[in-house]
Amino acid sequence: MTASVTFDALAANASDHDAERRQMVLLTAAAAGVAAAAVALPLVSSFAPSERAKAAGAAVEADISDIAPGAVKTVEWRGEPVWVMRRTPEMLAGLAAQDDQLVDPASVVTSQQPAYAQNTHRSIKPEYFVAVGICTHLGCSPNAVATGSANPSVGADWKGGFFCPCHGSTFDLAGRVFKNKPAPTNLEVPPHQYLAEGRLLIGEDNAA
Ligand code: FES
Repeated sequence: MTASVTFDALAANASDHDAERRQMVLLTAAAAGVAAAAVALPLVSSFAPSERAKAAGAAVEADISDIAPGAVKTVEWRGEPVWVMRRTPEMLAGLAAQDDQLVDPASVVTSQQPAYAQNTHRSIKPEYFVAVGICTHLGCSPNAVATGSANPSVGADWKGGFFCPCHGSTFDLAGRVFKNKPAPTNLEVPPHQYLAEGRLLIGEDNAA
């Protein structure tokens, strides 16, 4: 399943519902756990290979040719949301200005991204950022927060990024976590590769 939306629209929808989202996340997590338990047996007994493969982490292909500059498409992989963001030149320029505020600006923690995303933009192509949309603290879903937001958890010099409503962690537009926040590491970049222009494979790469 995929969905594409502009970053600003994502940010606008997210701004006033932190408490509700916290509750929803907890309920969703609980429901997901129940659902996983409920479907586990049918999957085993029906030998549905595609579903079993998906649950095991099979790669998923995504058409990213329709993502407008500044927009984000969400692709489901391993039952988790994976964001594919098409960053504008302005968004990329903002990444360079705040290294001193970040826990791991150079992606030194190798478990959080493949080697080909161990760079300041944390991606193969600077324009596209691919990340698992799950907070590295306790697994909530961060919200998009645009530049100029009134969110008190971001500073006046905020360049855009993501805010986790559960305990306040903030991440920049490369998923790099800011200092003095509960999340210990940057957002995870999953294995991925480009099959062709506009075609992305998530969950598998051709790294040796
Ligand atoms: S789960 Fe995101 S800050 Fe705690």
